[in-house]
This record gives sequence, C-alpha cells and structure tokens, in this order.
Amino acid sequence: MGTAPADPPHRAQEVEQGVLEQIRPTPALLARVAAARDHLVERGTQAARERNFPLVRCLVAGSAARGTFLADRIDLDFFLLFPPDLQRSELERMGLELGAALLTDTETRYAEHPYRRGWFDGFQVDAVPGYAITDSSRPQTAVDRTPFHQAYLSARETPALVDQIRLTKQFLRALGVYGSEARRGGCSGYLVELLVLRFGSLQGLLTAARGWRLPVRLLSRPDVAPRAPEDVALLLDDPVDPARNVATALTARNLATLILGAGAYLDDPDPAWFAAKTVPPPSCEEGLKQIHARSTHVGALVLPRPALVDDILYPQLHKAERAMADEAKRLGFAVLGTSSAAGEGELILLLEVEHAERPAVRVHDGPPAGIDRVSAFLEKWSAPEAPVMQGPYVTEDGRLAVDARREHRRLEPLLTAALGQLPIGRDLRASLAEGTRVQPLAELPDSPQLREALGDLLGKRLPWKPARN
Ligand code: CTP
Ligand code: MG
Repeated sequence: MGTAPADPPHRAQEVEQGVLEQIRPTPALLARVAAARDHLVERGTQAARERNFPLVRCLVAGSAARGTFLADRIDLDFFLLFPPDLQRSELERMGLELGAALLTDTETRYAEHPYRRGWFDGFQVDAVPGYAITDSSRPQTAVDRTPFHQAYLSARETPALVDQIRLTKQFLRALGVYGSEARRGGCSGYLVELLVLRFGSLQGLLTAARGWRLPVRLLSRPDVAPRAPEDVALLLDDPVDPARNVATALTARNLATLILGAGAYLDDPDPAWFAAKTVPPPSCEEGLKQIHARSTHVGALVLPRPALVDDILYPQLHKAERAMADEAKRLGFAVLGTSSAAGEGELILLLEVEHAERPAVRVHDGPPAGIDRVSAFLEKWSAPEAPVMQGPYVTEDGRLAVDARREHRRLEPLLTAALGQLPIGRDLRASLAEGTRVQPLAELPDSPQLREALGDLLGKRLPWKPARN
C-alpha cells in the first residue's frame, strides 16, 4: 500500500526543511565570518588611528553581519564612517586608502562613490566609506542609511526568521529575481529581509504574493508614499527613511515572475524550485536556424564597450533597445522583440522584425476634398516623376490619398541612417563611430555575447518550465 502524497502545504514544509539543511551555513563558517568581522573592525580602527584619519567608527553591515547570507555568496560589507562635515573628496581619499591598507588583492570600484573590493581573512570584502549621520532620513551619500538598516534588522531577526530569509533568497535566486544590480533588476538582499519580516516566512510571503497585481503597494503608512517613478512595480517604504522606496530596482517583469512563481510553487512544492537552472544559450548557428523557422529577420548593432560600471551601462543598453524598436516601428517594420548583451570588448543589440524589407508601397494621406491644400497635393503627386504606385485617389471618407513608392526598404540601411538621432544613452552615443552600422545577424561572427543576446531573444520562458528548444 503506497502512502498518499502529502497535501501541498505539508509537502512545502518538508521541501523547505530539506533545502534549509543544505543551505544553512555551518557553525564553523558562521564562526569564521564572526571572527573576520571582529578582526576587520579592529584593524580598521587601528589603521585609521595610525593615519590620524577622523574615523568615527567602522562596522560590518549587510547580510554578513546578520548571518542572512547564502553560503556560496558571502561578501562582507564593511563601512567606514567619517564625520558629516568631512569634505566628500577627503572621505573618498581616506576610504580608499584604508581599504587598500586593510585588504589584499584590491581593486577600486564605483557606485555612487568609489569603494575598494579585496580580500580579508579568506572573505571578499567591500570597504565602503560613508558619513556617520544621526538622522537616517537625511543621508549625505547612498550608503549612509546602511548602519540604520543593520540596527533595524538585527533587533528584529530571530534564528527562525534568519532561516526563512536564507530560504527566500535561495528561492528568488533560483527564479532569477535575486540581486538589485541594474543588469538583473531583482530584489536586493535588504528588500528580501524586509519582506520576510513582514510576512513571517517564505510561505507567508508567497501566499500573499500569489494574489498581487502590478503595481504592488506595501506601504506601512497609506498616507505617505515614497518618491518613485510612475511606472514603479513595487512600492515599499524603507523603515529608516519612509520617503525612500526600497524596491526601485525591481522590474515589473521580475515582480510578475515572482507572483506567478509563488502560485506555481505553492500548488506543487518541489526541491527543484530551489536549484539554480541555467540553460546554455544557443550557438549562433542554432539561433539562425530558429530565426529561419520563425521566418523573421534579425538586425544587429555592434558597438565597442564603453568603460562604464554595469549599473550605468545596463540601463543605457535597455534604453538603446527601446530606441531601436521605436525607430523600426516608425519606419514601418513590425517588431517582435529586442535583446542585448555586453561582452568584454563589445556590446551587441538585436532587433527582430517580421520582414527584412518593408513594403515598397506606403499609403500617404492627403487633404479632404474642398480645401485649399488639395491643388498643391494634386500637383505634387500627379507630376510624371512623382514616385507613385497608385492614385492620387479619393478614400472612402472623402480625402485624397496616394500610394507612394518607397525608395529604401531594407531594415539595416534605414536604421543605420537614423542611428545618430536615436535617443540612446549618452555614453553609448559616444561609442558610435563613423562607420558604425546595423548589420544582418548572419554577418556577425559567433561570440559569447552574441550567444547571450540570442538566448535572451529566443529563449523566453517561465523559469520553472523546461525550455522548448
Ligand atoms: N542596501 C540598500 N539598498 C540597496 C542595496 C543595498 O539599502 N538597493 C544596503 C542595505 O543596508 C544592505 C547593505 O547595503 O544591507 C549591503 O548591500 P548588499 O550587499 O547588496 O545586501 P546584503 O543585505 O548584504 O545582502 P546580500 O546577501 O545579497 O549580500
Ligand atoms: Mg552583502
């Protein structure tokens, strides 16, 4: 006699217990993180004193301070806090110097201001300078709220909640919606912690989320809404600064994926939901075959990659995709989709249209019968050299019109001619050189960035469903 399968909520509990056993950091790892944290604070304080830097204090914040990290993705967020009246340039100089002194194998990275990434006691560390402010609703730099986040969360997180946060991060990661970098557009670690605090557990969050409709508002006070662009997908005020939306980075697509995934998981819980699924992108040849089967056409724009941090580069790439699609539509092409990818040296943008050539004919509307402009219209379009395929004629609603012949029909030269005027990002525009042109996909050599862009263009699916090709 077989046992009946457990009902979904029961089954979910079992699944989640099993996953937790796997992802929970070992006591030994937690102890190593705690030791590195203390050691880092001690060395930071000492290094500042040796240099006479006016460091107010330093601390490890972020998930490493709370144990809410995923064991295969630890980074120590180390904050060096200076007096609020210190000049910004001094803050940056001292922060970078301390970072270089404390860490090994360092590199300077840039967000809103420069910080140092390197290694300390076997862990990757970001050493970030900030101001020791007292009012968390008046930050002077983007990172100044972080110590307040640390205080807010650590006062509320129990070991059971910490487990639920890890579980939720793993679930969202497997779904592809974890990480607030512009490239991903998912949930930041801080957002995940606030969501789990609010709904109590992964199950609580997913049970609520399956009923959400975009845009989602999760405000603690219905009367005040944080500043946010009109098309924001999720509004959730920062408890330490209610005017700030914590979820600005989360895109509508990723939030909708989370909503749909929540329902699908709760109906059919399975450990596979927590496992990363990567589908290798198609080769260039496979991509061409698929496009042939779709009987569409793909134009490509290849640009040298400008020296920009990802969080500036990716929004510009997405803007350029939209600009190319809008221009193609304006030119008379039916657009199916766009994608883009950044390789080490170059950027690739793809645009899929129904046909490589737009029709040779275009209906050109003229004035209604009886008004003055009629004679000028007729004169222009009746001339023997006028590019006319039919007409001028009268339409059903009593206007003049003519079927004009288009001189240029192919997508690539038309888009190439428009490139200089497209509203693509400032830095991408600077990458446009004299001979930059839109090319048919078939002319591009195979490359990892081309495969990635093809994968995005042709591999759209729900992440929990198997790929079709
Ligand atoms: N932070 C924030 N808003 C963001 C990103 C970060 O306020 N969009 C702050 C949070 O206080 C966060 C800290 O910066 O805790 C560190 O950022 P990050 O490393 O991205 O997040 P973690 O909380 O450490 O989570 P993860 O496990 O993803 O590293
Ligand atoms: Mg972190």
